[in-house]
Amino acid sequence: MSSVQVRPVKVTIQIEDLRKSFAGKTVLAGVDLGVYEGEVLCVIGRSGSGKSVILKHLIGLLVPDAGTIHIDGVEFTGADERERRAALTKIGVLFQGAALFDSMNIFDNVAFGLRRRGTPEDETSRIVGEMLELVGLRGIDERMPSEISGGMQKRVGLARAVAMKPEIILYDEPTTGVDPITAGAVNRLILKMRDTLGVTSVVVTHDMESAWHIADRVAMLLDGRIAFAGTPDELKASEDPFIRQFIEGRADGPRVA
Ligand SMILES: Nc1ncnc2c1ncn2[C@@H]1O[C@H](COP(=O)(O)OP(=O)(O)OP(=O)(O)O)[C@@H](O)[C@H]1O
Ligand SMILES: [Mg+2]
Repeated sequence: MSSVQVRPVKVTIQIEDLRKSFAGKTVLAGVDLGVYEGEVLCVIGRSGSGKSVILKHLIGLLVPDAGTIHIDGVEFTGADERERRAALTKIGVLFQGAALFDSMNIFDNVAFGLRRRGTPEDETSRIVGEMLELVGLRGIDERMPSEISGGMQKRVGLARAVAMKPEIILYDEPTTGVDPITAGAVNRLILKMRDTLGVTSVVVTHDMESAWHIADRVAMLLDGRIAFAGTPDELKASEDPFIRQFIEGRADGPRVA
């Protein structure tokens, strides 16, 4: 008897033929990508290839020229305001650069979404404490974002995203520009979200070391399309010259800077 358990894979996010141009310049030329429930999917690709643009479509900050996005089977792109709001409550976002509110202290930053949702203040306080603990930042409630380091800001951004107990978390470059120790802590947190809360994660990154470490699957964006999607082992085994150049971080190869 085999001990391997095969469980049906549920697609949490389905992106089909997503297209977007800005002022005549095509950025997304038909992106097809499925994200499975409970997985960590890393989206890799060069700077300016459109990774953040994909994430912005997933939260309705950008509207596609064509194509569809389904979240838990509900079409997000064509949804009315009520359906869109319902979908958005499932999603937490860690923006590139953390994007904390400068005029609010750390406590109020993490509490922001909870308060907006009408969570009672004592429960808000308990959750904020728990989340700051989770990201290893207890006791900085009163500080302002400008008083803490970039790496700490990222972790506060993560605490803010996770406080809402989202089903899906989108991370935009969570380990870029932080030291290796903080990057390691962020990687561990991403896996912890998956393993303890069953979160479905999309991690946009050009940090290949992080991708190797955390990805269940990797998708590579190239020339506006997904040129590769598969497990890290499959990516490693790829013989495509551009993929090899990218994952080995070489300046020479089919593409030049
Ligand atoms: N709102 C916008 N208006 C016009 N152009 C935009 C807009 N948003 C993104 N772009 C353009 O789309 C392209 C892709 O941008 P995007 O930010 O998605 O790149 P990225 O892959 O996230 O890069 P990086 O790794 O540097 O973060 C860029 O050429 C950018 O200038
Ligand atoms: Mg980006």
